[in-house]
Amino acid sequence: MNKTIAVIRGDGIGPEIVGETLGVLDAVAQKFGHTFTYKEAPMGGCAIDEFGVPLPDSSLETCLASDSVLLGAVGGPKWDAQPSANRPERGLLKLREAMGLYTNVRPARMFPDLSAACPLRSDIAARGIDFVVVRELIGGVYFGQHTTETVDGEQKAVDIMSYTEHEIRRVAHVAFQMARKRRKRVTSIDKANVLDTSRLWRKTVTAVAEEYPDVELLHMYVDNAAMQIVRDPSQFDVIVTENLFGDILSDEASQITGSIGMIPSSSMGEGARGMYEPIHGSAPDIAGQDKANPIGTVLAAAMMLRYSFDMAAEADAVEAAVDAVLKEGWRCGDIMQGGGKLVGCREMGRLIREHI
Ligand code: IPM
Ligand code: MG
Repeated sequence: MNKTIAVIRGDGIGPEIVGETLGVLDAVAQKFGHTFTYKEAPMGGCAIDEFGVPLPDSSLETCLASDSVLLGAVGGPKWDAQPSANRPERGLLKLREAMGLYTNVRPARMFPDLSAACPLRSDIAARGIDFVVVRELIGGVYFGQHTTETVDGEQKAVDIMSYTEHEIRRVAHVAFQMARKRRKRVTSIDKANVLDTSRLWRKTVTAVAEEYPDVELLHMYVDNAAMQIVRDPSQFDVIVTENLFGDILSDEASQITGSIGMIPSSSMGEGARGMYEPIHGSAPDIAGQDKANPIGTVLAAAMMLRYSFDMAAEADAVEAAVDAVLKEGWRCGDIMQGGGKLVGCREMGRLIREHI
């Protein structure tokens, strides 16, 4: 098969982890007889430096014309002083919206070989962590109206959170379909004791659930959910929630696995095209030092192979290569424990390629 992949290297450690991941994709292409064509799409701080804006039209066009998008990470302190409409993050939000990527999937899974890095008490960790956060990605307060004005001599800021039924319904369907392939339990998270958007969320998800009688649906308030994720994460299978709650809970969920540098994510809308990225940020403190862990991005590429290109064997090969490298004891700094063999970003990439 021939596939065109838009490549957003981004800022900080982005270029290093994406570089290694393209090497892994090349190894997959060679082994399985595919052709992957990479099209560079500058976005984020580097695009502000070069073009003055975080998402140049040419990059957006490249992404829209590709079969999928691979993203490293964007942002960093260098661009903190940018006006909010021109921050690196704006580029990402605009791209999500323009591509119609309404579903963000972030697995929280503890790798058996890395269970010692789990920050939870060992009896809690022993029950296992294997759930998925399905986050609504292009609605809610992120995309409501934002205003700052002076009222009665002081500044007043307003961010509007809004949801329509169809925005809730389409992401709820994704969650139920995913649960069907897993342990058949959806936990919908909201703040229905306070927010109208949450009351609509709860009502709409409950209505969608009628089409999935084989899947159990539970509702949970977001404050309770934040607590339950550390108290007993084994109770969760598929979590579905709105944009801001999902942003917060998915960071919490990835951290309890002990290996935030290892976790990939996918963003999808209608159709096969998606955007794939690691969960972690641009880590400017270690950028350019060959210290970053490329595994989150490599596993994001595996998700791309599986979900956008329907290449299950190829995705399996990538995931098996990562497992094998970990089994052999190779570790980047973020997941290093006693007895591990410390390697940098480049060497980790090479080891993974060698196992493809
Ligand atoms: C994420 C990030 C983004 C978000 C930022 C960079 C805009 O935190 O992907 O979770 O809030 O969605
Ligand atoms: Mg976030």
